[in-house]
Amino acid sequence: MTVALVTGGGSGIGAAACRLLAASGAAVVVADLDLDAARAVAEEVGGTAVRCDVTDPASNEQAVASAEAEHGGLDVVLLNAGVAGGFASWDDLDPVRYRQMTAVNVDGVVFGLRAALPALRRRGGGAVVATASLAGISPSPSSPVYALTKAAVVQLVRSMAPPLALEGVRLAALCPGFVATPLLDGMVERFDEAGFPLLTAEEVAAVAVDLAEHGDPGSCVVVQPGREPLPYAFRGVPGPRGVGQGVLPPTRTPVPTTVASPAAPPATPTA
Ligand SMILES: NC(=O)c1ccc[n+]([C@@H]2O[C@H](COP(=O)([O-])OP(=O)(O)OC[C@H]3O[C@@H](n4cnc5c(N)ncnc54)[C@H](O)[C@@H]3O)[C@@H](O)[C@H]2O)c1
Repeated sequence: MTVALVTGGGSGIGAAACRLLAASGAAVVVADLDLDAARAVAEEVGGTAVRCDVTDPASNEQAVASAEAEHGGLDVVLLNAGVAGGFASWDDLDPVRYRQMTAVNVDGVVFGLRAALPALRRRGGGAVVATASLAGISPSPSSPVYALTKAAVVQLVRSMAPPLALEGVRLAALCPGFVATPLLDGMVERFDEAGFPLLTAEEVAAVAVDLAEHGDPGSCVVVQPGREPLPYAFRGVPGPRGVGQGVLPPTRTPVPTTVASPAAPPATPTA
């Protein structure tokens, strides 16, 4: 049986993903800072709940240990917990709130991946989907710090996916536009009034689960209302002039030759 761990599984996209994973026959571990919310979802889907603060490395390790202890292993991880909001303008930037947002949105994915990998390796591979955002690949003037955190997730995924794929671990990112969840903090009516369509948590969760099952390593899939999910095609960047195709810079740690280096000569631009 597939065993799945979902951080931020107590609400919104994470809760919807827990329902879909359970419906497809997976054993689901619902991990959330809000244990009551995690318990409610776990009870609904016949899974287990664990209190997890994704900003804390040990808490991530405990969540993974709980999945292995309760269900015998771990195959799928949705690193989905996230927070938004906080600054009406750049001049309102509060350093404490900034640290909180980067801790949840960036550290939470880094520590979650760090904790999950040994368990996935013990199963001979698996899949990890990190919930980034459209804000991670598109400028977001109204929420630059949130955009910063999600861009970090996108680049972590793009950088880590090739070596992990060689170990049978598929790592991908989910990049949704606006989704009607509690994260929007009462803004849903304003979107409605403005005639701006929102995604549902269920629509986004379905893409996350599909990515976990079939996603290409390193893909960053854009989800927008009324459109098919689209793996975003990043444009190639220039390498050093005069260096031949396929010549990679030296690295401190061995990198498999089949893995493209970000500093390698550019691929043909695709977007
Ligand atoms: N709602 C949107 O418009 C939108 C758009 C793009 C991306 N996202 C991303 O989707 C993900 C899920 O968000 P959502 O919209 O379902 O929001 P949500 O608020 O409904 O759910 C977020 C969950 O994360 C949990 N959480 C917060 N801090 C945590 C921590 N330190 N440790 C563990 N859990 C913690 C919360 O308790 C909550 O259950 C987030 O990463 C968010 O940034 C949301």
